[in-house]
Formats: sequence, structure tokens, C-alpha cells
Amino acid sequence: MYQPAITGSGVFTPEQVITNDELVAAFNAYVSRYNAENAAAIEAGDIEAKAPSSSDFIYSASGIEQRYVMDKTGVLDPGRMFPKLRQRNDDEPGIMAEMALDACRTALKAAQRQGSDVDLVICAASNHERAYPAIAIEIQQLLGAGGFAFDMNVACSSATFGIQAAADMVRAGSVRCAIVVCPEICSGHLEWRDRDCHFIFGDVCTALVIERAEDAQGAYFTIRSTRCATQFSNNIRNNNGFLRRTRPDGTSDRRDMQFMQNGRKVFKEVLPMVSAHIGDHLGEAGVRADQLRRLWLHQANKTMNDFIGRKVLGREPEPGEQPNILQDYANTSSAGSIIAFSKHSDDLGDGDLGLICSFGAGYSVGSVLVERKDSA
Ligand code: COA
Repeated sequence: MYQPAITGSGVFTPEQVITNDELVAAFNAYVSRYNAENAAAIEAGDIEAKAPSSSDFIYSASGIEQRYVMDKTGVLDPGRMFPKLRQRNDDEPGIMAEMALDACRTALKAAQRQGSDVDLVICAASNHERAYPAIAIEIQQLLGAGGFAFDMNVACSSATFGIQAAADMVRAGSVRCAIVVCPEICSGHLEWRDRDCHFIFGDVCTALVIERAEDAQGAYFTIRSTRCATQFSNNIRNNNGFLRRTRPDGTSDRRDMQFMQNGRKVFKEVLPMVSAHIGDHLGEAGVRADQLRRLWLHQANKTMNDFIGRKVLGREPEPGEQPNILQDYANTSSAGSIIAFSKHSDDLGDGDLGLICSFGAGYSVGSVLVERKDSA
């Protein structure tokens, strides 16, 4: 048995940003247009007028200030309201593989590793571009990695479930150096015309290198233990199969083919599940909450994270103890907790403990207990 460790991390951030004000201006232009086009039916009571959105609501309900996206022109076009993602030829890298390559290279550099050192690639994400060949295998080839690769999807918990899969294989010796990469193009699946959720998501890609602690080239985080749980719920659901670039027009467009959620129910049902999950994980690991230096939580909603932090720690979290990145990135599905980890972990010292925790559709919850080590 070998001790698995996270030895490097990387984040690819798209160049284009949409602020809340830009988003709301486009949404409200769409609403005005819709209400004008359907004025007679609204007047007759056959359909309901759409209500405008507001930046103040978005910030106070979620803590989100902006989001990064792969294409903002399509999203902000009131006549379109979804990204323009160029259909690529089969002989060029797919959009997810391209984002993944950037994040993987950063993670490999941090771990002082080459692509050829890698013998497992797990592409773990909520939103996959195609059914097959696996995106992970395309990434494996672009990296010059050996071994094998596969895709997996546990929605917002894809990263932590991927970490558990990779860590278990490193521990058992079936692989030596793994990459868990999470390219999330949430903008392709978000219903930008739905006021209740149009502000929620952004795009990003994260990557983690997971290998034997004894192979680490510099400072690293041992993966002390992992814990995954699922429980079926329809409260977060998307019936579409793969990344959609075109939308059938008008009445044939099915709302269930994009992201949908019952946000209030998710809030109420997921919070106790996550708090209990973390408590059980720490209990099993023989770690007290007051021994945790940091919580890197899933980034869906600031109020939700504040609540979980208070519940787990039994007090108000100190500034920096539970870093949020959702104000800049919005919800980036499985990548959120890993962005927080990647950007807010370098300052920890030898022996410091922290917990990565994701939660979301499924329902699913995954947690990873890590310990910082200065060097091998
Ligand atoms: N602009 C202005 N007002 C809006 C609005 C918008 N964009 N969207 C909704 N509202 C209004 C609603 O109409 C409602 O008005 P009412 O009280 O007069 O009926 C009010 O604001 C509250 O709406 P609600 O949907 O209950 O808001 P909320 O406080 O629950 O916040 C979420 C919405 C989505 C931010 C929140 O529920 C959430 O984050 N839930 C957790 C979701 C989660 O973790 N999902 C995981 C996804 S992977």
C-alpha cells in the first residue's frame, strides 16, 4: 500500500468575464422583447409576462459578482441567450480537452512532473462534450501520458469522487501518477433565459496531480482519507445528454433539456446532509473540527457555505479559514472547491489539516481530508 498525495494543482480561467450588471442588462432586454412579442397572449391571460432580474438580488441571494465564460457574445445577445461554441472538426482538440490541457500543464509544472509521468487521467465533470471517445483519452494523448483514462460524472461532486478513485488506485499500486481534471463548461447547460437561475454558473477547468507521497518533488498534501455518499433526488436535474451548441427554436424547446433546480429545496435538504457527512468523516478519521486549518467547500452559494462552516466548526469561521471564490467565478460545478484549494492552500504549514468538500446533484457529497507536508 502506498500513501497517495496531491502534489500539484492548476486552474484554467477563461478570458471572458460577465459582470452581474452586464448579465442583467441582457436578460432584461430579452424579457422586454419577449413581453412585447407576446403582448396579446399576456393581455389575454394565456401566458405570464416575464419579470426582470436584478444585480442586487443576485448578489444578496448568492454572493456572486461575476462569472468567467468561454463565450460571452452569445450569452449576452438577447435574441440568442446561449454561448456560441464553434463546432470543431474531429481532427482538432475538443473544447474540453483544450481547457484541460492548460490546467493539467499548470498542475504538472507545480508537481515538477511531465505528461509522460502520468499513467491515469480521470476527466471528472458535470457536463461532457460528447459520449465517446472519452474526453479523458483525448487529454491523455495531448499530454503524452501513458496508462489509461476515463470520464466520470457525479455532477458537482465529480472532482472529489474522482480524487477518491485516483487515490484508491495510487494506494493500491495499480497506478503511480494520476491527473483528475475537471473542465466545466456550465454555460452550455445553463438556461440563461430563466430568471431563477440565469446568474448561477460560470466556466473553468481545474486539475490535480495525485501520486505516491514518496514520489513528491516538493511540498504536497497527503490524502488522509476520502468519503463519498449519494442519495437520489430530482431537485437538480438536466435531461440533456451532451454539450448542446444549438437550440431548437420556439415552442419545441424543452425546459428540461437545460439545468433546472428547486433551489430552496436543495438548500434545505443538502445542508444537513453535508454537515452530517463532514462530521461523520472527521469522526471516522479521528480528527476534531478544531484541528482543521481550512475548509475548501463547493462554491454554489455564500449563505450555504457560511452555514456549513458554522455547523462544522461550531463557531463563526475566521477570515480565510473557509475561502470563497464564487464571487469571482460563480458556481463552476465540480471545479469550485478545487479552485478554492488551488488558490488558498500555499500558506498552510507542515502538519496542517484541511478538508475539501463538494456537494450537488444526485444528491452527492464527497469529502477529502488532506494534510500538508513540507517535503518528502
Ligand atoms: N432577480 C430578482 N428577483 C428574483 C430573481 C432574479 N434573478 N430570481 C428570483 N427572484 C425573486 C423570486 O421571484 C422570489 O420572489 P418572491 O419572494 O416575491 O416570490 C424571491 O426572489 C426569492 O426567490 P428564491 O428562488 O426563493 O431565492 P433564494 O433566496 O432561494 O435564492 C438561489 C435562489 C438559487 C440563489 C438559492 O436557492 C440557492 O443557491 N440554492 C442552493 C442551490 C444549490 O446549491 N444548487 C446546487 C447547484 S449545482
